[in-house]
Amino acid sequence: MKKTVFSGMRPTGKLHLGHLVGALHNWVRLQDTHRCIYSVVDWHALMGEYEHSQNIKSHIMDMALDWLACGIDPERSIIFVQSEVPEHLELQMVLSCLTPLGWLERNPTYKEQLREITTRDLQTYAFLGYPVLQAADILLYKATAVPIGEDQIPHLELTREIARRFNTMYGKQVFSDCEAILTPTPRLLGLDGRKMSKSYQNTINLSDSPEDIYSKVKNMMTDPKRQRLKDPGHPDECNVFSYYKVFAPAKELEVRDWCENARKGCTECKKILADEIIEYLRPIREKRLKLEASQDYVRAILKKGAAQAREIAALTMAEVKAAVFK
Ligand code: TRP
Ligand code: SF4
Repeated sequence: MKKTVFSGMRPTGKLHLGHLVGALHNWVRLQDTHRCIYSVVDWHALMGEYEHSQNIKSHIMDMALDWLACGIDPERSIIFVQSEVPEHLELQMVLSCLTPLGWLERNPTYKEQLREITTRDLQTYAFLGYPVLQAADILLYKATAVPIGEDQIPHLELTREIARRFNTMYGKQVFSDCEAILTPTPRLLGLDGRKMSKSYQNTINLSDSPEDIYSKVKNMMTDPKRQRLKDPGHPDECNVFSYYKVFAPAKELEVRDWCENARKGCTECKKILADEIIEYLRPIREKRLKLEASQDYVRAILKKGAAQAREIAALTMAEVKAAVFK
């Protein structure tokens, strides 16, 4: 029996290269070894975006298109939209009864977001409970492996604590422990050298056209010590070089040589990088364009996924209710 993987992403906009190397590659690979369940977690998106909820629907479709284009395979994995499986909210309710407020208030991710996100009012009841819904997502499918980024480790820790508390309180081993699968790939920075994020507008999106990619890469910052073509560069201090390492590792030595020995200028170096990224994304972009033209097919996949997910979810909820109400 294969282990179950669960992961989710909030539909808040088009996916970018950071999502690809930070998560999706991992998700695609896991399909070979695990039973994978991937959810577009729209309730989680609503917790942050409740003032702009009109965009969530189109983001759900964008996310499904990006996933399928990247190789998430609906024949092998279950992909679905969280709000189409009402059991997520049922389990959240049960788990929220036994989650002490202190656990949520102490959560470092929560505290950081309250501090840093000033454009939205996140002082809400639901947002404090964000990790409880996340725990419900995972436990509903009894997933034991959860591919996540490092920032999500506190949430997974809470999931384990909530699961243990449930089992002890109701005297039944309904839930097992889950563990994080962290992505091995090094983090890719945004075009400006900060964290890659939609809100910084420093992303290359999976759906960007070649023209978009040329102009975005052209404007990337390079080694600031290299002012003129004949100045030797320092590739290890250049974000462009770190992109080569991820998207064209076969060229790494060659780039180091032309940079350190001032054989090529930064403009040309970036033009070549743009070509590499465009080639790298070509199959994804082509598949995405095809899928965009058949959105009914994509909706059918999500519908089937929700039905498959519900079958599992209903079994767990029956067990949960039997344990709670005896
Ligand atoms: N909180 C996660 C994030 O922002 C998204 C998420 C929701 C999730 N439910 C999940 C991730 C369950 C893993 C498992 O990235
Ligand atoms: Fe960066 Fe390339 Fe310029 Fe070197 S040549 S500093 S790697 S952009």
